[in-house]
Amino acid sequence: MDTERKIPNHVGIIMDGNGRWATKRGLPRSAGHKAGVETVKKLCLHMADVGVKYASLYAFSTENFKRSADEVNYLMDLFMISFNKEMRTLVDRGVKVVFSGRREPLPGKVLKAMDKIVEDTKDFDGLTLNICLNYGSHAEIVDTTKKICEMYKNGEIELDDINPEFIQHNLYQDLPPLDFVIRTSGELRVSNFMMYQASYAEFYFPEVLFPDFNEEEFDKAIDAFNHRNRRFGGVNNEKKSN
Ligand code: FPP
Repeated sequence: MDTERKIPNHVGIIMDGNGRWATKRGLPRSAGHKAGVETVKKLCLHMADVGVKYASLYAFSTENFKRSADEVNYLMDLFMISFNKEMRTLVDRGVKVVFSGRREPLPGKVLKAMDKIVEDTKDFDGLTLNICLNYGSHAEIVDTTKKICEMYKNGEIELDDINPEFIQHNLYQDLPPLDFVIRTSGELRVSNFMMYQASYAEFYFPEVLFPDFNEEEFDKAIDAFNHRNRRFGGVNNEKKSN
């Protein structure tokens, strides 16, 4: 556990650049996704080691279904294999896996693998790994709104029960807000990733493509986080004392 540096409690990663990583090497895009799984495994162990408590990874957006059928099918198989086999090294280290996103239209074999890893890790208290799969913030806000309307319609809540914390508790997962969001590959976009949870997050956009975003790159990101002055809409401490 790192005691000198501030470690963000909840880190989000938009894992971008797998395709470009493969293309640069004359390989099919699928090779980049496969290399991405290796990076996910290494990074999660490293985040657990340095004391990150929650990590949210953007694995597949609601919009990613627009990709070619070949690429979507490859990714679905890769997810299934990852949850059933590749990510077992994380399970052995006490990582608790949860998912955010819509189940429809994910294939049954992927849902089965997701349900199994959730069930196998539900009592673990290590890093909580929130995998955003078939996820989009817009869809999440729509689904949460519908859920809350149902509660109101059934007389389970009053209008005044609805406040920012209540909404947070009713998102796909009830997780603390994001402190730090990293998007690899130099793209400067949020792309529908955890927009409610990221309201006060710090953002970091390294040029590195996701498969190359190793432990050393993660530590550089943490250094950058340590140079940020988070004010949450207030004034910073130095200014307050003036
Ligand atoms: C973005 O790169 C990446 C994805 C859409 C898929 C992310 C998936 C993985 C890293 C696989 C492993 C994940 C888990 C949780 C097991 P891109 O294809 O958009 O790259 P490009 O912008 O260079 O084309």
